[in-house]
Amino acid sequence: SNTVLTDNFGRLHNYLRISLIEKCNLRCTYCMPAEGIPLSPKKELMTADEIFQIAQIFVNHGVDKIRLTGGEPLLRKDFPEICSKLAQLNTNLSITTNGILIDRYFDVLKSAQIESVNISLDTLIASKFNTITLRDQFDKVMSNLQLLIAHDFKVKINVVLMRGFNENEIVDFIKLTHLLPISIRFIEFMPFAGNQWDKSKMVNEMEILEQATSYFAPEKVSKLTDEKNFTARKFQIKGFTGDFGIISSITNPFCDGCNRIRLTANGKIKNCLFSNEETDLLTSLRNGADLPELISNCLQKKFKTRSGMSTSEKMNDPKLHFDNRSMIAIGG
Ligand code: GTP
Ligand code: 5AD
Ligand code: SF4
Repeated sequence: SNTVLTDNFGRLHNYLRISLIEKCNLRCTYCMPAEGIPLSPKKELMTADEIFQIAQIFVNHGVDKIRLTGGEPLLRKDFPEICSKLAQLNTNLSITTNGILIDRYFDVLKSAQIESVNISLDTLIASKFNTITLRDQFDKVMSNLQLLIAHDFKVKINVVLMRGFNENEIVDFIKLTHLLPISIRFIEFMPFAGNQWDKSKMVNEMEILEQATSYFAPEKVSKLTDEKNFTARKFQIKGFTGDFGIISSITNPFCDGCNRIRLTANGKIKNCLFSNEETDLLTSLRNGADLPELISNCLQKKFKTRSGMSTSEKMNDPKLHFDNRSMIAIGG
């Protein structure tokens, strides 16, 4: 039944985000500290089979959408095996990736019926890509993006906005949606351990919309209907093929419709992106414990908004969130 996945606010958590790996082949400064993060010993990471077993329990209780994240999920050596197992669960299976290895795993994505791919890309300028990711992979990401579009994947581009870095590219990203059937999602920079967040670096929803309306004219910017359980509030420039959205976790949270539960690569679940409290499912699976009960208990502890940081003032208090895992170890 669905009761296991419903929290005290009546929210059904039917969307499972699984982080496959703690490593990444980029070094984005907003996602991980420069010195890296301590990696879990291999035996503490979920195997392909354990990922399948845990996912299956969630699916039995109502999960119908699974997203693979990381780190960089395509760095898992057993990615093909993980995909073919998860494909048997008949959920909507999707992935969030930096795009570098898309060509290598293109056939795997196809055969697992992964039709929707979210790509992280914060700039359209190669030299700036190198600055933010500390790696020279811009051309690779762009060619893989074209590959996905050419093969009719549903492509979303995640753009984390950071003041002084890329807020001057908002209009250029929106212009891409003139002819391309893609969604651009502008994301408010969020605080995590070691990412040197402060409010002044964040570019907020209102400012993004102001840029769009002042460049394209207010009457050209249409608000699209909110999707169920949305993260992005969506807009479209009249006559454009694609659309753009804003993921405003800080200034305009969307927690009322939250349906997301996260499983980390070392087998712990988090009831919120901003929650420090983790429930260890992997150890319990290995010990033969009752996972549905642990999952239910975890969700009963979920707060209404952002793990208790209900106001944006609370988001400014470093004590409240800087001991949360780095984003690289949560997967967004
Ligand atoms: P779709 O399923 O395609 O809508 O993607 P998604 O937005 O659920 O996932 P994606 O991995 O592309 O994440 C895009 C951005 O939204 C990232 O910065 C995530 O951290 C953020 N995000 C995803 N889910 C949540 C959430 O539950 N809460 C908050 N605050 N941010 C989220
Ligand atoms: N704030 C907002 N989004 C972030 N992401 C990574 N770190 C942050 C952050 N600090 C995004 C990445 C990726 C998604 C999973 O999370 O851009 O697309
Ligand atoms: Fe859900 Fe937490 Fe994100 Fe809000 S901040 S939408 S409660 S995961």
